[in-house]
Amino acid sequence: MGFLDQRQWMASLEQHGELRRIKAEVDWDREIGAVTRRVLEKKGPALLFENIKGYRDGRCTKLFASGLGARSRLALALGFPRDTPNRALVQHVMQKNREAIPHVLVDGGPVKEVIVKGAAIDQTEFPVPKWHYLEGGRYIHTFSSIVTKDPDTGVMNVGLYRGMIGKKNTTPFLLIKGGQHWGAHFVKWAARKQPMPVACVIGWDPIMSFLSGSPLPAGVCEWDTMGAYRGEPAQLVRCETVDLAVPAGAEIVIEGTIGDDPETYENEGPFGEFTGYVSDLPTPRPTMQISCITHRRDPIFCGSLEGTLPGSYSENSVMSSVQRAAIAWNILNGAGIPGVLDVFAPPITNGVNLRVQIKKHYQGQPKQIAAALWGNSAAQYRYKHVTVVEEDIDPADDEQVEWAFAHRVNAGEGGVVIFPGIFGSPIDPSTPMEDRDVAQLGTGLWNRMLIDATRSWKNPRRAEWGGERFPPTVRPAPDDEARVKARWAEYGLGDL
Ligand SMILES: Cc1cc2nc3c(=O)[nH]c(=O)nc-3n(C[C@H](O)[C@H](O)[C@H](O)COP(=O)(O)O)c2cc1C
Repeated sequence: MGFLDQRQWMASLEQHGELRRIKAEVDWDREIGAVTRRVLEKKGPALLFENIKGYRDGRCTKLFASGLGARSRLALALGFPRDTPNRALVQHVMQKNREAIPHVLVDGGPVKEVIVKGAAIDQTEFPVPKWHYLEGGRYIHTFSSIVTKDPDTGVMNVGLYRGMIGKKNTTPFLLIKGGQHWGAHFVKWAARKQPMPVACVIGWDPIMSFLSGSPLPAGVCEWDTMGAYRGEPAQLVRCETVDLAVPAGAEIVIEGTIGDDPETYENEGPFGEFTGYVSDLPTPRPTMQISCITHRRDPIFCGSLEGTLPGSYSENSVMSSVQRAAIAWNILNGAGIPGVLDVFAPPITNGVNLRVQIKKHYQGQPKQIAAALWGNSAAQYRYKHVTVVEEDIDPADDEQVEWAFAHRVNAGEGGVVIFPGIFGSPIDPSTPMEDRDVAQLGTGLWNRMLIDATRSWKNPRRAEWGGERFPPTVRPAPDDEARVKARWAEYGLGDL
């Protein structure tokens, strides 16, 4: 069973010693972001800021952050013990991503306790941080789940996309038409010359953020996948001003529409992105016009400090290390590729780099793996560099992977393959700005790379090498090793 709501999730974290309440006054302007960064560096707990400057009284006084900022907490959110290994979580997620329990509509719920419309709408009544000093504004949507609907099928999508406070009732978003599912919806609504209805959900079961930040296949309603993870249907209520549905137990819901008239665009960015860089320049972007805010009494705002740096993993990198590996593995299984033994997404890369371990069946298999991943829309923002290793190399062990890279890769003989100009990311600082022009290109362009660190089958098998294609390693013979182990103390080496 999942968590009833964000409050039950926070109570569970507190019970496990994974939540700290900050009672000292902290400024929403840069200080919350800097505190959160330092706690991430120290591999610390989730945080509940209870005394935010200028928000001691009023509509909303508290901010919850870093709920999924550690592997232990992600394990708890998925219903596992805190020390569950990565691989077990990946395999659970692979399974659950393919299941569904349809959501149900209920008549009301705590999220309707307060309803604000018209001139009373003011996003700055919520303690929205300016997370980083170089960001273009206060980012209200860093961990919100954004609900839209395909106007042709009526199926809802739930995605996680960044959005910044514009005016008190407007929110410009980084809305990418190519790749992201709400972008595909946006194109359809624009073709009908209608603004797209949108609902932004802040704070519920942590599974909501985990799944809205994950590229499930187009047409899948994430509310129903959440049902499968929770073991019971998500209970949703209808929005007040748009034809969408949101969890009855959510903390805060912001409703409105986004139109495609450039006259309505407002500047968005830069933002401290998952790459660890402050990406973008301020750019006019599609902007939500807010028509209603509903929330619980004394709502708890929720946000995430984005940006992974060596030594400080964001919530995104923790989630990506599990989810992006699971999605990739399902893609490879779906493509019928044999012999996939493990998939590892190094957390520091958020799944931009991916390692696949195989039992090699044929020479072209690593290229097939890269082609399958890059041909899937889940490769938006991710899987830029794919490394394939064999069964004797643990893909999670940097030293083993480096060794294979050094001695099994022949770059001029297909060991390194570059696929130029394919869809990619608009926020990758290594990509020139002109290749990141979302307005012109629909999405960013990438030159993707495969590193085939498997032993080449172009090498003939040799009798002198025990019938293998590569020479033996320098490891002693097993009987020599056994003899030495037996006499170890005798050598005077027993303490080693
Ligand atoms: C914490 C977090 C923040 C994210 N921020 C953005 C964002 O600002 N813009 C974006 O396009 N994708 C963002 N993503 C990635 C998308 O949520 C992800 O690609 C997801 O698949 C989108 O949903 P969709 O596949 O239904 O379109 C973020 C993911 C996480 C986990």
